[in-house]
Amino acid sequence: MVAKLREHLSTCQPTVYIFMTAQLIDGNTIAAKVRARVAEAVQARLAAGKPRPGLATVLVGDNPASQVYVRNKRKACAEVGIESFGYELPKTATQVEVEALVAQLNADPRVHGILVQLPLPEGLNEERVLNAISIYKDVDGFHPVNIGKLSMKGREPLFVPCTPAGCLALLEDAGARFKGANAVVLGRSNIVGLPVAMLLLHRDCTVTICHSRTKDLPAICRNADILVAAVGRAEMVRGDWVKPGAYVIDVGINKIPDATKKSGSRLVGDVAFDEVKEVAGYLTPVPGGVGPMTIAMLLQNTLRGAEHADCAG
Ligand code: GUN
Repeated sequence: MVAKLREHLSTCQPTVYIFMTAQLIDGNTIAAKVRARVAEAVQARLAAGKPRPGLATVLVGDNPASQVYVRNKRKACAEVGIESFGYELPKTATQVEVEALVAQLNADPRVHGILVQLPLPEGLNEERVLNAISIYKDVDGFHPVNIGKLSMKGREPLFVPCTPAGCLALLEDAGARFKGANAVVLGRSNIVGLPVAMLLLHRDCTVTICHSRTKDLPAICRNADILVAAVGRAEMVRGDWVKPGAYVIDVGINKIPDATKKSGSRLVGDVAFDEVKEVAGYLTPVPGGVGPMTIAMLLQNTLRGAEHADCAG
């Protein structure tokens, strides 16, 4: 593989490269700094007699991955002094019941953020549930008003979706230069691909969004100064897809079989880490890259919700 990568590198401009492995962007450390700042701000609020920020999590059904995500989010809240209110509904819950819970949380002054864990069980209308969340408590940033503002020039959503915000924070921390950079986003999901593309556009990148119908993906990726992979396909981005020195953000979390592990599996990203680290300038690992940032941004958004409520009275 190294020979193949050397061949790829030799075809790139400029023609002389010093072979160096990418610098890892350590999401655990960067997220810990964000969490520490949030914890400090929560303590300052309490000392000033302001209410403790509160996050309501809504888990519908028994998707095991969603259960783990919600548990981790609530644990992270406790660690920074944010109160969390966990609501669980059975997978048989009706649309009316889910929306009634959201309405109750919209009216609850202890709640500054509402997170309805996705995906919802089949039969529930996700769009209608997300529309029902108050835009002032929409800490996921998925309400069409917040997404609409994110998609427009000169508008500021109150909340930016957590994973995309985390990707930008990682790039900033690593010193990425955005203005005029070619940014390629693999994936066009509402949760990651689309909003991260908008954020990169706001930072004056030239953004290409790729998807399952995109022709010659490797060639487009090779042009990327910033590459964000959010497709959910294990190790899809190969070493020879990457421009030497590029910033590569791997959003994927995929379980693949691994007989050497006790569990019989391991987690990998959408990026073939061992290959790409030989070419990229900066790279996020999986786990320990984007994952911890998503939760840190959720905490930051919940604090923002509480601060907004202070102003709104
Ligand atoms: N499911 C996967 N990612 C997310 C997220 O960021 N927020 C919510 N609510 N559900 C998710």
